[in-house]
Amino acid sequence: MVKLNVNGKTYDVNAEPDTPLLWTIREHVGLTGTKYGCGVAQCGACSVHINGNLVRSCSYPLSAVKPTDKITTIEGLSAKRSHPVQVAWAAVDVPQCGYCQSGQIMAAASLLKKNPHPTDRDIDEAMTNICRCGTYQRIRAAVHMAADLNTKGGRQVATDELLNHTAGLTVVDAGKV
Ligand code: FES
Ligand code: FES
Repeated sequence: MVKLNVNGKTYDVNAEPDTPLLWTIREHVGLTGTKYGCGVAQCGACSVHINGNLVRSCSYPLSAVKPTDKITTIEGLSAKRSHPVQVAWAAVDVPQCGYCQSGQIMAAASLLKKNPHPTDRDIDEAMTNICRCGTYQRIRAAVHMAADLNTKGGRQVATDELLNHTAGLTVVDAGKV
């Protein structure tokens, strides 16, 4: 039995030590916002944060997780999808099929923590997640918007920007696709 701290809650997980963290999160913890794409750390669909660091969970064995590690999935990134990246994603209407998007959002949140104002080149270099629908232009636009929201700070500013940018757009919950 292994104790996992996911999104601030502790779960007792009974799985083999070599089980990828991705399957532990999906099958044992029951959070399905984190997706399986390639299974070999190439596409980024399975991205989560461990202690704030971006990890491709399909290639991270359960045995590598320490009891003190704090795992964050798309479901735990913010309360009510209020993280600036989620707000910007909705405002720019980034997702197409949506499958890659929880991984993209987790990667963008990680990037902005390390580099609050990335250039397009920084975004391309840091975010190697694959999107088969080719939403890369909208991803870049949303990362820049999230950087602006972070600078101005506060949910109200984010909400105001969202309203300014999104008349008529549908807000998408990338954690539910
Ligand atoms: S499923 Fe993990 S990187 Fe593709
Ligand atoms: S939105 Fe379809 S794969 Fe990225």
